[in-house]
Amino acid sequence: MVTLTSFGLRHTLWTVIVLVFFMESAMGNFAKSFYIHWNTTNSIFRIDNTDHVFDLNKGNAQFEYDQVNIICPVYTPGTYEEDTEKYIIYNVSKEEYDTCRITNPNPRIIAICDKPHKLMFFTITFRPFTPQPGGLEFLPGKDYYFISTSSKDDLHRRIGGRCLTNNMKLVFRVCCKPEDQSPVPPPQPTLPPPPPPPTTSTTTTTTTTSKPVTKKTHKYDKAENEVIKSEELSHSRGAALASSLALALAASAVLAPLAR
Ligand SMILES: *[C@@H]1O[C@H](CO)[C@@H](O)[C@H](O)[C@H]1NC(C)=O
Repeated sequence: MVTLTSFGLRHTLWTVIVLVFFMESAMGNFAKSFYIHWNTTNSIFRIDNTDHVFDLNKGNAQFEYDQVNIICPVYTPGTYEEDTEKYIIYNVSKEEYDTCRITNPNPRIIAICDKPHKLMFFTITFRPFTPQPGGLEFLPGKDYYFISTSSKDDLHRRIGGRCLTNNMKLVFRVCCKPEDQSPVPPPQPTLPPPPPPPTTSTTTTTTTTSKPVTKKTHKYDKAENEVIKSEELSHSRGAALASSLALALAASAVLAPLAR
């Protein structure tokens, strides 16, 4: 009798967990993370493709915002300074993007990659609000343009540079204009209201984070960035699971007296 009851309870619990998990997927996709190696050898900067245009927040659930991680060029300790690439990356207007000429006297700096022997990356969350004063805000339906006009000899130059010589510029299209905002199907009337967004995700949504890694600085290799990537992935999955679990626990608290 006792075992039957506890089996029933456990069964209910798992059903709730699975149900909540699938409901969250049905509501929209998890936020995505993009990893961009900002250096001349990255093929996304080639002019013969359209890889330099990023569509962000497309089909995401409410309050799920994509992140872009800009990874600075990094080299082995022995590499000569003159063989390294350094950049300042700016957010600019479309005209400045098109011409590779920054005319704004105070352009917004997105990233400073001036330590070629440190693994550094900058995480940008494409959301329309920010907790910090002066933080970056990215409005739906707008395009944002990031360029670097740094050259081999002049990190601070604002005209030409590798924007012109190596096409080092990217476009970020933030979804969605109000008129095309119907990628998420309306919830089924029979389903209970969707659970609140996972609260744990808000703790890591700092707008621009510089994370210099002080450990061993290898010449940039894929493995190191795979680690970052899997951390990110496990984070968003973990947050969803955590919220599912929280709901399941709440449900079991309600169901427990009934099972007696
Ligand atoms: C980026 O630059 C454009 C053009 O100067 C400006 O309108 C926009 O507010 C800037 N965005 C951010 C996030 O700084």
